[in-house]
Amino acid sequence: MRRGLALFLGTVVSQRTSHSLSLNNISRRSFTAFTTSSTGIMSAPSLKKAKTDTSSSTKPLVVAVVGYTGGVGTCLLTAMNKIGLEPYALVRSKTMKIDGGAEVPVDFDSLGQSLLEAAEKQNGTPVIADVTASSHVQDQYSGWVSKGISVATANKGIFAGDEAKYNELLASVASPAKLLHETTVGAGLPVLGTLTALKNSSHEIQKVEGVLSGTLAYVLGAVAGGKMKLSEAVKNAKELGYTEPDPRMDLNGMDVARKAVILARLSGLTGIELSKMEIESLVPKALEDCSVDEFMNGLSAYDDDFAKRVADVEKTAGSRLHYAAKVDVENKIVTVGPMACEASHPFNSAGPDNLIAITTNFYTRPLVVQGAGAGGDVTATGVLADILLCKQN
Ligand SMILES: NC(=O)c1ccc[n+]([C@@H]2O[C@H](COP(=O)([O-])OP(=O)(O)OC[C@H]3O[C@@H](n4cnc5c(N)ncnc54)[C@H](OP(=O)(O)O)[C@@H]3O)[C@@H](O)[C@H]2O)c1
Repeated sequence: MRRGLALFLGTVVSQRTSHSLSLNNISRRSFTAFTTSSTGIMSAPSLKKAKTDTSSSTKPLVVAVVGYTGGVGTCLLTAMNKIGLEPYALVRSKTMKIDGGAEVPVDFDSLGQSLLEAAEKQNGTPVIADVTASSHVQDQYSGWVSKGISVATANKGIFAGDEAKYNELLASVASPAKLLHETTVGAGLPVLGTLTALKNSSHEIQKVEGVLSGTLAYVLGAVAGGKMKLSEAVKNAKELGYTEPDPRMDLNGMDVARKAVILARLSGLTGIELSKMEIESLVPKALEDCSVDEFMNGLSAYDDDFAKRVADVEKTAGSRLHYAAKVDVENKIVTVGPMACEASHPFNSAGPDNLIAITTNFYTRPLVVQGAGAGGDVTATGVLADILLCKQN
């Protein structure tokens, strides 16, 4: 259930669960690949480290890149080239090329078969990198991972979708295949691997909070302190290219909500479904179905209400309003929407970055992962880091 801006006061989602999710088959990124500063802020995996990992292994990776002509796909081929990793197969929406052969119509069964045969010949590790947004490609995952082909993907859909289908997919992963999707939250930032490693190493995850949309971080930053009206901030964000062509796709919070589902599931919560969540949208109800121009022109009617909401939060010194996701694991509640954060909250130093704060029984002051949460290069190198992990047992 989604609520519009007109309501403005709002909560939240409650998800009751009784048992935790098995994480055995889920993305697990080694801690040793990252550095942690004294502030607890972790840096993204570096290409230098990736190079080291490649040369230290004798087992070659046999990689198919699905979506190689796209924004992330193009960056992925460049990053692979930099570390001397040549793709075995290249696939786009209608055609594919295998092992330098001619372009032929896409056939995912024969792609899988060819990868398995090539990997067997080379004593290598077969991996399919999915850098599309296609559900049709995701429908192939269980067939691939059940045959021992690893999947490294930036494609969120299935991980935030129907829980039963998600669990079936996890159960279909046949060792040593891996299913890695680090870049589905925070692009290349080491979020899911960190969360999973904490959980697997006996931390009790208590809370995961995230500023997960650069666009919404920009808009909420622009309206802070009354610097700008909401409609002006959205107009600027659109002109700067920070939004989708229809800014409502960002302002409705659905992308943040999908990432919240992924974080909640990896935190061990069950029963989390996008369709059951109450998400506070920044799109006024009355402007949900009109044209983009009508939306842009009509938004100013809501400026005063939103400015008041911001000002109310800021009455408490240092407090700020952020559009964020909060996974309260202890209480099994997932919240997506504008949140008031007191001065000491890590979100107040996020700027336009994505920032994910993980609180555990040991990290009572949260462990923070912060950095660019979008962009072709950071997403592609995140996918490449997952590809490289596929050859580790
Ligand atoms: N950009 C970011 O900052 C970022 C961050 C995190 C995650 N992601 C995710 O990364 C993915 C890729 O994003 P993008 O911006 O690179 O997308 P994009 O530029 O639209 O590229 C999509 C690619 O997928 C291919 N494709 C579409 N349908 C296909 C199908 N059924 N079978 C095979 N290939 C298919 C397209 O091939 P054709 O050229 O033939 O159409 C194209 O190569 C998305 O899931 C996105 O959510 C992106």
